[in-house]
Amino acid sequence: MSDIAATIAELQTLLGKRLNTNKAVLDQHGQSETYFALAPPDAVAFARNTQEVSDIVKICAKHSCPIIPWGVGTSLEGHALAIKGGVTVSLAEMDKVVKVYQEDLLVIVQPGITREALNEDLRATGLFFPVDPGANATIGGMTATRASGTTAVRYGTMKENVLALEVVLADGRIIRTGTRAKKSSSGYDLTNLMVGSEGTLGIITEITLRLQGQPDAIAAAVCDFPDVEAAVNTVIAAVQMGVPMARMELLDASSMQALNNYSQLGLPEKPHLFMEFHGSDASVAEQSGLLKELAGDMGGGDFQWSTKTEDRNKLWAARHAAFLATKALKPGFDGMSTDVCVPISKLAEAITDTAKDAADHGMFAPILGHVGDGNYHTLFLTDPNKPEELAIAQKLSHRMNTRALALGGTVTGEHGIGVGKMKYMAEEHGAAWSIMADIKRTLDPQNIMNPGKVVQVN
Ligand code: LAC
Ligand code: ZN
Repeated sequence: MSDIAATIAELQTLLGKRLNTNKAVLDQHGQSETYFALAPPDAVAFARNTQEVSDIVKICAKHSCPIIPWGVGTSLEGHALAIKGGVTVSLAEMDKVVKVYQEDLLVIVQPGITREALNEDLRATGLFFPVDPGANATIGGMTATRASGTTAVRYGTMKENVLALEVVLADGRIIRTGTRAKKSSSGYDLTNLMVGSEGTLGIITEITLRLQGQPDAIAAAVCDFPDVEAAVNTVIAAVQMGVPMARMELLDASSMQALNNYSQLGLPEKPHLFMEFHGSDASVAEQSGLLKELAGDMGGGDFQWSTKTEDRNKLWAARHAAFLATKALKPGFDGMSTDVCVPISKLAEAITDTAKDAADHGMFAPILGHVGDGNYHTLFLTDPNKPEELAIAQKLSHRMNTRALALGGTVTGEHGIGVGKMKYMAEEHGAAWSIMADIKRTLDPQNIMNPGKVVQVN
C-alpha cells in the first residue's frame, strides 16, 4: 500500500512550494484532451533537474507511491492520467537546450522543451528537428510515446530520431543509454526500449536528438480529389515508386470543412492531399512532377502551390491544428481521436471501409492522416449529454482497430497506448505482451511508474 500522506510530507520538505496539492493544479494535471474522465493525482511535483527527479522517485519508491511524468498534457489516449492516484512529476520547468552539436547535427535537450520552442532555438544554426505531431508537445512526451507527425514519411518517428537518453529508473538510479555516435552495435538497445515506454519504465530527463539541415529547396502543394480513394491510390503509387516525399497528408471533405472554418484556408470542401517536397531544385521538381502525373491519372485537380514561406507555414499550421479545428466544429462536444497504421498496400481498403462504416452509422467522422506512412485517424465528436454517441464512436473505433490488425497493421501509428488502447495489446502482440510485462517487473518491481498503462503486471 502506498502511503500518500508520508510521500507528500517528504516531498514538501524536498521541494517546498514546488510540491503542489492545490485542487485546480491537480485537476489541470488530471485531464486529457480527449473524452477520458478526469483522473487527478494527489500531488504535482515540479522538478528542476535530474537529481531532483531522482530524489522525488526515491521518496515515492520508499512509500510505493505511483509516479506519473507530465510534459504539457497533449497526449490523446489518457497517457498521463493518474488513474491510481499518486504524484505527477511535471518536467515543464526542465525545458532547456543543453547543448547543440552543430557539426554532428545533434542536440541535447531537457524533456520539457516543446518541439516549437526547440526549433525556435535552433533557427540560427540552419538545422531543424523534423518530428511534428499536431500538438506543440514536449520532446520528453514525444519520446515517451514514440510520437511522429507529418514529416515521418521522410525523416522517421522519434524512434529514428532519438540517439541517446538519460533516464531516472523506478528506484531513483540515473542511467544513460546510447551515445552521440550515429549508430552502435553495443548491447541491448535500451534507448529504444525507453522510447515509447510511456513513463512505465522510468522518467526521461535528457534526450539526444538528430537534427536535419534545412533543404535547399522546399515546395508545398495541395490537390483536391473526387473521392478519398483516388487520393489514397495516388499516395500508394507514389510510395511504391519510392518518391522521397517529405510530407503527404490526407484530409477528407469533413476535415477540410474544419480547417477552412478554423484556419480560413478557403479551399474546396473535397478530399485533399497536402504535400511537401524537400531536396535540390531539380529533385523537388522531379518529385512534384511525378506526383502531379499520378494525381492526374487518378482524377485529381490542379496543384495549388504554396511558394512563399509564410503560405507554407499557414498551410502546415492549419494541418497541425486539425484536431482543434475539428473540435471547434461542435463546441462543448468531447473529442475522440483514433490512430491506426496499416501496410501501404492495404491503406485504400482500410480507409474506405472506415468511412463506409461511419456513414452506415450516421456518424460524423472526419478522416485525416499521414497517409505516406499508412497512418490515419478519425476524429469523432460526441455529445457529452448523449452517452449513446460515445458508444457508437467506441464501436466504430473498435472496428477500425481490429480491421487494422486484420490487415497486418497496428492499433497505433503515433499516439501510443495510454489507457485507450490497452484492450488491444494482447491481440496485437500475443505472447510478446507478457514479455513487456516481464521487462516492467524487472525494472519496476513495485509497479509505481505510470501504473495501469502499456502493460498488465497483475
Ligand atoms: C493529427 C493528430 C491527431 O494527426 O495525430 O493531427
Ligand atoms: Zn496524427
